[in-house]
Order: sequence, then structure tokens, then C-alpha cells
Amino acid sequence: MDAIEVTVADRRDLTDQIAEFTLAPADGAELPPFEVGSHITVRTPSGAMRRYSLVSDGQDTDSYRIAVKREAESRGGSASMHDDAQVGTALQIEPPENTFPLSEANEYLLIAGGIGVTPIYAMAQELEKQGKRFNIIYCTRSKEDTAYLDEMVEAFGDRLLIHHDDGDPDKLYDFWDHFAEPTTTHVFCCGPKPLMEEIEAVSGHWPEGRIHFEDFKPVEVVRDDDTAFEVELRKSGETVTVPDDRSILEALRDAGHATVSSCESGTCGTCKTVLLEGEADHRDMVLMDEEKSDRIMICVSRAKSEKLVLDL
Ligand code: FES
Repeated sequence: MDAIEVTVADRRDLTDQIAEFTLAPADGAELPPFEVGSHITVRTPSGAMRRYSLVSDGQDTDSYRIAVKREAESRGGSASMHDDAQVGTALQIEPPENTFPLSEANEYLLIAGGIGVTPIYAMAQELEKQGKRFNIIYCTRSKEDTAYLDEMVEAFGDRLLIHHDDGDPDKLYDFWDHFAEPTTTHVFCCGPKPLMEEIEAVSGHWPEGRIHFEDFKPVEVVRDDDTAFEVELRKSGETVTVPDDRSILEALRDAGHATVSSCESGTCGTCKTVLLEGEADHRDMVLMDEEKSDRIMICVSRAKSEKLVLDL
């Protein structure tokens, strides 16, 4: 897929941790139209690729709007958008893709958790335009953490139910009443894992095809029992410690080394690096068996030996 060059045309804070970015095509050309539920993949200023749902109207191709939450455990993607993507910053994006399309139904229940509101808000605007019946349940930690709060209240009135849980799992919204009796309603849910698991649990007796989920959680590249090890960079002569909770790629970035990457989940092949010494713990999906002794995908793979020597 051909990348599209864009610039940040506008940026506004929606909450302390969530910023909205309006991206305009760099060369003045039109951006491809899209359907609600679509996302784009953004090469963030750190080089990490991240997927963000489009909030804007799919027919308005002058710009795309996305909202980005600064994740506490950011692996470089969301933090670099917040810190380094200012008005005028040039970015590359991949064209919209839709893995969460709106289906045809008489009635809809839209469920959002936290930053998962982005495709849900876009869907609600589209359903409003189409004159469809819908309700929204929007769960967040607190009023201050709720992106698009005022504009959604104004647009959707009492079709919008807001629930704050103060970050307490015991205060999760009780969805049971909405799911006790299966109906012809189509449900669209986007949010953190516990919310989606809850919806999966309460809707188990619903007919197939009525409940739709979207989940952008990054692949977990580090496991609980991973340990720290060292990486020697033969060309620069430097040695970098890879902590137990960081990938080689992240540790190199933390140490100020520019590294290229794309998927950061061991599937695209972009970060392939020559391994000169040491035994790798290969966790990728791309290396062929014959490459495994002298190549390593540094976005996911780790070390079986105490040290790896890389041709960097
Ligand atoms: S960045 Fe895609 S395999 Fe490492």
C-alpha cells in the first residue's frame, strides 16, 4: 500500500491525556474517502507504526481526524504523537482500512470504553445522518477523562448514557439488562479488554453476527518471565542493556539509536538485523530457519545467551 504524506493541520487537547490531530494531505491532493469504523496506520514521529480510528466524516476528504491517548506504558507511539506531532509536523500514513464496518440493522447499541470512543463517535454521527435508531453507552474513568463529552451530549442527548467507574473494576457498568433478551439490535463495542470481555460474556446467548468488536491493543512483545540481557553494537562499539520489560528495538531507541520498524509485532520483516554473536530467542513470524543463526527481528525477539552482538 502506498503511504500518504500528510501534515498536522490542527491539534487540540480533548482531555489531559487525549489529543485530537487533524491531518491534511501534504500536497493538497484529496485523501481517499472511507466508511465509518475505518482506521489509518500512522508512522509516528518515533518511527513506530500505530493504528488510529478515524473520527471524521468519511466523505470529507479534505482531512482526517484521529484522537490519540498517551498510554502510560507507551512503547514510543502515542508518547511521540503527543510530544513531537505539532501543527505543521509532516507524517506518513497508510490509507484507511475498515475491520469494523457498520452492518445493516434496524437498531444499534454502540458501546465505547475510554479512547475506544473514536470509531463509536464516528458511527453515531453516521447513524444520525441516516436517521437510524441507536443508543450509546460510553464508559470512562471520570468526567475529566471523557473525550468529546460536551459535543456528544449536545449531538445525541438522552440516547447517550455516560458511566464513570473511577478506575474501579467493581464499578463497571452493569450491561446485563441490555443483553438479557436477545434482540435484532446490532452491538458495536470498542474499548479496553475488560470491557470487551464483559460484553462477550453477557452476549454469549445472542445469535452470531450481532456483536461486533474492535481492538487495537498492541501486540504484547514482552512476557512476564522475560529477563534483561545485553546487546553489543559492533559498529558503534556501544553496549546497551535491554531491560526485562523492553524489546531490543525499544532499548536501542531509549539509548538514542534511530531504528527502522513497522509492525513491531514480528510479522513485517522491516527490523531484520544481522546477528554476529550470541543465541537469539526468536519470536517472529518471518525469519526462515536458515536465517535464524545470523539474523534477528529486534522488535520481538530476545536472547537466550547473556549477550547478543549485532551488526549495528
Ligand atoms: S518491525 Fe515488523 S518484524 Fe520487526
